[in-house]
Amino acid sequence: MKKDHNLTPFYTKLKEYALSDVVSHDVPGHKLGHIPNDLMDFAGNKLYQLDANAPRGLDNLNRPSGVILEATELMADAFGAEKAYFLTGGTTMGILSMIMSTCRAKEKIILPRNVHKSAINALILSGAVPIFVKPYIDQELGIANHMDYEEVKKAIEDNPDAMGVLVINPTYFGVTSDLEKIVNLAHEYDMKVMVDEAHGSHFPFSERLPIGSMEAGADLASCSLHKTVGSLTQSSILIAQGPMVDHVRLRSTINMIQSTSPSGLLLASLDVARKSMVFQGPEKLIKVIEMADKTREQINEIPGLKALGKAYFLSRNAFDYDETKIIVKVSDLGLTGFDVYKELFDEHHIQLELAETHLILAVLSIGTTQKDLDALVVALKKLSDTYMPMELEAIVPKIKYSYPEAYTRPREAYHAPKKYMPINQAVDEIAAESIMIYPPGIPIVIPGEVISQDILDDLDFYQRSGSIILSDTESGYIKVIDKEYWMKWSEDDNE
Ligand SMILES: Cc1ncc(COP(=O)(O)O)c(C=O)c1O
Repeated sequence: MKKDHNLTPFYTKLKEYALSDVVSHDVPGHKLGHIPNDLMDFAGNKLYQLDANAPRGLDNLNRPSGVILEATELMADAFGAEKAYFLTGGTTMGILSMIMSTCRAKEKIILPRNVHKSAINALILSGAVPIFVKPYIDQELGIANHMDYEEVKKAIEDNPDAMGVLVINPTYFGVTSDLEKIVNLAHEYDMKVMVDEAHGSHFPFSERLPIGSMEAGADLASCSLHKTVGSLTQSSILIAQGPMVDHVRLRSTINMIQSTSPSGLLLASLDVARKSMVFQGPEKLIKVIEMADKTREQINEIPGLKALGKAYFLSRNAFDYDETKIIVKVSDLGLTGFDVYKELFDEHHIQLELAETHLILAVLSIGTTQKDLDALVVALKKLSDTYMPMELEAIVPKIKYSYPEAYTRPREAYHAPKKYMPINQAVDEIAAESIMIYPPGIPIVIPGEVISQDILDDLDFYQRSGSIILSDTESGYIKVIDKEYWMKWSEDDNE
């Protein structure tokens, strides 16, 4: 790092402004805290004083030239990037911006099928044609995870005209693909590499963690600093390097979807989180990894539970694993991860990040304490004490993970004439909407794909297990293409 990371240009200026007793004849209408309300009573007036919009001296996020530019330059330096953009719409916005600025309608993009829904939405908005790579399916845990290098290689070789490759670094479960090797191959084919680094913002700050996107040579990455680095929810960054990135196109795409009134609080939180991570991260991340290791050992002594670490994932051909995640297989107890997720909150006041059929996932950060981890171990021990004697039947994997066949581009399906039908009668219809399981926000079917019985079985299972199913349509129904009226738009007639 070449810059002075003690500096927090945006936060410093924002604080100065908040304390300046300015006469506010601009927005926001709360006039920096002059309309008393319940939130202010609880959180304090300072929260509102810092919620400035874009007054003189605080720069403009759409075209930074002052303190925002300085703050983004520090951010780029911390992440080993050439340029950083601050985002107030999360990595959702970063993924939209990366894909929309890389692919025009009908251009191809290679991406894993277990992408976050923002990538699917980017396909609809851009009109790009997805070339899906089937991720590694972990049958023991019942999850989709990293991409095998050979699968990506095949997709690249079969589609040399693709504009880019999107890689998740790491997956929600902390597992990575061989990013550096993918980057090298993609660049040989003149393809850009975009990285969904929503869960990997902390990677550049410890040698004990998987390689970060910029170090691996990727062109673009979006990182949710709010998830693992400590900024406020919704604040993310987009980082970039190298000659393949067209910054004019990227900036105009970001500005298309960024609010013209970005939250100063979110931007300031990025500025100060970067400083904390640069100074505290390297030491504290090692401690967190050590605490996580010890916790996994303790959990592995609890009957019926299995905490899976790096060795487990590497033995399943993963390239690397983020050891700040704690994954516990709970289904041998006869409970689903969804059951445990609920019970840990209801009975022990522990909020987990995610549940899947077979597992629960705890996400740690440099804010995690030993006490927090002890509470998890105690709660899991109680859970085992309660359920082991019941000798419930272990849950066996039921999810088929048969990724559906694509009939048409997501954008075309999104715009096609539609009808609604009961979901259980939709076999062989073409989906006109995405159906998402949340968490982890991964689409089970996307617009343009053929709905199979396997998909319906998976959906039914998730629903009965208590997962939240997100779709545009009222529960029990699905929006499909109305083939009768579709008139088969010719590919040439619409973008
Ligand atoms: C893999 C993945 N990518 C992208 C996102 C979107 O990130 P954000 O919540 O910052 O918009 C998420 C959110 O959970 C995610 O899990």
